[in-house]
Amino acid sequence: MTDRFGKVAVLFGGTSAEREVSLMSGSAVLAALQGCGVDAHGFDPAERDLCALRDEGFERVFIALHGRGGEDGTVQGVLETLRIPYTGSGVMASALAMDKWRTKMVWAACGLPTPRYAILDAQTDFDAVAAELGMPVFVKPAHEGSSMGATKVVEPSQLRAAWELAARYDRLVLAEAFIDGAELTVPFLNDRALPVIRIDAPGGNYDYEHKYFSDETRYLCPSGLDAALEDALKRLVMQSAAVLGCRGWGRVDIMLDRDGRPWLLEMNTVPGMTGHSLVPMSAQAAGLGFGQLCIAILEGASLG
Ligand SMILES: Nc1ncnc2c1ncn2[C@@H]1O[C@H](COP(=O)(O)OP(=O)(O)O)[C@@H](O)[C@H]1O
Ligand SMILES: [Mg+2]
Repeated sequence: MTDRFGKVAVLFGGTSAEREVSLMSGSAVLAALQGCGVDAHGFDPAERDLCALRDEGFERVFIALHGRGGEDGTVQGVLETLRIPYTGSGVMASALAMDKWRTKMVWAACGLPTPRYAILDAQTDFDAVAAELGMPVFVKPAHEGSSMGATKVVEPSQLRAAWELAARYDRLVLAEAFIDGAELTVPFLNDRALPVIRIDAPGGNYDYEHKYFSDETRYLCPSGLDAALEDALKRLVMQSAAVLGCRGWGRVDIMLDRDGRPWLLEMNTVPGMTGHSLVPMSAQAAGLGFGQLCIAILEGASLG
């Protein structure tokens, strides 16, 4: 048993739509930490009051909750109040990263590349948006974990219907210039970016449904990109995290267009941590096993 971290709670489950994934992430993290000799205990905020963490003498918290009420700054705020150090981003950065629109505004203001966009609502002149962004556009709900209502729109006349669909999932809906090219995702761990993962959809088809519901999707890590580009992407990822105020760990989704230019899509502050998730895959390529990855994330636990 290592007493380096004291008594550690792994928060998992919770009440968000991503509860099931969180249960898988949290169980994997819990088993890995225990396997490394950490005095780790599972804790499901859907079943117990977070104040019990203080009463039971927990000294650190590993947050493995995805989506609202875990990834959005609210649990982070409770832990700040209880003065218990926790993994990952703090209150402000967690809340900001949860909102794709405001995240894009910060990136754009800092000169970081993110696709051009418009906010859609009932008053929108859809033809004007189509003309401004050009076709195709990608319409999506603006909040993390609500990817269900996304559509690739190829005809201006389809834009309103795409908005109506996305609006069923979220009050805030984005239309983004569609980036045709390779899909990448890049984790960061404390002060460094981990190897780039390239997501290869079947037949070069980047169609949304295809990508998420096909077994043929391949995840390439090492990415096969040239070393200079890989380094540039890693620097971009660290900048994109720094300007949002993210810390500890996270994962940035990026599109690489046909000219090799990267476009930032979104920041995930508590990405999946099951055995076959993307962050563990990238860490493995950097020589960090799942247990070592969990320990490194826990080492980054902090307050404020
Ligand atoms: N502007 C865009 N151009 C092309 N594809 C996009 C664009 N925005 C999103 N996508 C596709 O949709 C997926 C999900 O979008 P993302 O912004 O990462 O939200 P989430 O992962 O929260 O659903 C991306 O991984 C990518 O395949
Ligand atoms: Mg994403």
